[in-house]
Amino acid sequence: MSSIENYKKAFLIHLEKSIVKTEPENLYAPMHYILGLEGKRIRPILTLMGADLFGVDYKKALHAALAVEVFHNFSLVHDDIMDNAPLRRGKQTVHNKWNTNTAILSGDAMLIIAYQLFENYKPTIFQELAKLFSKTALEVCEGQQLDMDFERRNDVSTDQYLLMIKYKTAVLVGAALQMGAIVAETSAENKKLVYDFGIQLGLAFQLQDDYLDAFGDSSFGKQIGGDILENKKTMLYLKALELSDNELKKELFLLYNNTEENPDKVEKVKKIFVETQAADFVRKEIEKYTQKSLESLEKLDITEDKKLELKKFAIDLMDRKI
Ligand code: IPE
Ligand code: IPE
Ligand code: MG
Ligand code: MG
Ligand code: MG
Repeated sequence: MSSIENYKKAFLIHLEKSIVKTEPENLYAPMHYILGLEGKRIRPILTLMGADLFGVDYKKALHAALAVEVFHNFSLVHDDIMDNAPLRRGKQTVHNKWNTNTAILSGDAMLIIAYQLFENYKPTIFQELAKLFSKTALEVCEGQQLDMDFERRNDVSTDQYLLMIKYKTAVLVGAALQMGAIVAETSAENKKLVYDFGIQLGLAFQLQDDYLDAFGDSSFGKQIGGDILENKKTMLYLKALELSDNELKKELFLLYNNTEENPDKVEKVKKIFVETQAADFVRKEIEKYTQKSLESLEKLDITEDKKLELKKFAIDLMDRKI
């Protein structure tokens, strides 16, 4: 078994024995439901790798890894309300299966549990973890707000999009790795470098998520075209506008600004993403940010095998379909 599969397995065992409360049922059942669905578990795996990279037993980082995954799942439950999403990991979203109020409160409780998990560490590590986590969680909120503001704006630039995805997604990937490094009590320099790797990887990851939202298949586990239906200002959209001639620009603009239901909207928009080569451009951007992450990896003072493990992880993410 590869060490990544090992990390995932150890994480899942830890998850199962750590989140055990059941009453009141409508608070805890949604939590068990979302945490039990088959996610990729990328962030907790990165936390465990983050500790191992610096020579510390990954098991020490299990509580921090769980905190990151519980926080991530909280953010998904609330994100699905905000994005009107019916499907998550191939199953009904929490607010559809229960209702919105239940999804809000269950999500809130998950955020609190995530913080509580840091109590398993000694004071110096606890403080450093909590500090990084608070900063990161606030940035995720800022990114999420920008994402929603952009739905109604027609003047979003690609730089503003990149800043938005840095906050809503990349900072948590960076923090996941850095939390492992904090548990390992490595140098400040290593903590920074591993975070920088995570930021570039996180940017590539969100670009890929946006790409798959339009061009993925049912294995993606989310409603295909969900971003288009919500008028998300993704790189696909922004680049398609930039690359299209006047007529196509007008068509795309109208498709995103028409309030009437249009059953062909997703297909029409996807066609424009392909025709303008915005889709090809985004594939190249995913490669570019993955490459940048690999460059920052080179600066890390770790063994070659560990570098190779992270490199493989980054490349597999770029080629993922789910
Ligand atoms: C989904 O994250 C939210 C994004 C930041 C794109 P993942 O793609 O990691 O979701 P799961 O946890 O594997 O389902
Ligand atoms: C999610 O971005 C970011 C957070 C949940 C903070 P998306 O809205 O693109 O994530 P998915 O596609 O629903 O997983
Ligand atoms: Mg969403
Ligand atoms: Mg969203
Ligand atoms: Mg998405």
